Amino acid sequence: MKRKLAAGNWKMNGTNANLIELQTLLAAHPDPQVDILICPPATLIVPATRLSADSPLMIGAQDCHSASSGAHTGDISAPMLADAGAAAVILGHSERRQDHGESSTTVAAKAAAAHAANLTAVICLGESLTEREAAQTLDVIADQLRHSLPESVTAANTVIAYEPIWAIGTGLTPSTAQIAEVHDFIRARLCDCIGPEAAQAVRLLYGGSVKPANAAEIFAIPNVDGALVGGASLTARDFSPIITALENAR
Ligand code: PGA
Repeated sequence: MKRKLAAGNWKMNGTNANLIELQTLLAAHPDPQVDILICPPATLIVPATRLSADSPLMIGAQDCHSASSGAHTGDISAPMLADAGAAAVILGHSERRQDHGESSTTVAAKAAAAHAANLTAVICLGESLTEREAAQTLDVIADQLRHSLPESVTAANTVIAYEPIWAIGTGLTPSTAQIAEVHDFIRARLCDCIGPEAAQAVRLLYGGSVKPANAAEIFAIPNVDGALVGGASLTARDFSPIITALENAR
């Protein structure tokens, strides 16, 4: 039985003072029935992993370089993240694709590096509003999926997050039918890439304006195995009810 996953992406938010949120979260969920992953900024990975040692809370990163070391000022490699205690890394987030011009091919190279370092790759896909309105969503997702997945993908080392760009940080969410359509599509495409058994076992997250108020409805959608949460993961007050909603789903 696959464990569902509540993942939090702190983006460029948080200093040491915010680690209290993780303590509060752990106190509220000492024995969670789902996996919980928090991806703080790189500066907090070490203190966050220390704080969550011997607890069910996993800590991840928000990006890595595709090389293991070298002359890449400002970048961090997958082995370095593993050494810092990270268990996972978010890759191909739309903010990285937009702000840093990351292509799906780059994302695949980073995911291969993450896998080689024994990190779980949380690979993000999603269409823009223009693409959605032009009825190109499934074509965009198919293209991103085809090029963002390295050959090393397994159900154990990869999580896919569907995050429509227009829903991120906007308070807008797709309808349940729209989420279901894309998640069913991703599952079917994964079948073609890695076979039916592995495809069933891969966790598919929805991301984009997930809040305590809409979490239960989203988690009731077939083929939604959890969420990648931005703004609402920054405080235990908001993230804790999302975790509970996931525990109670189906
Ligand atoms: P949001 O961000 O929950 O703040 O919309 C989601 C994400 O970017 O992962």
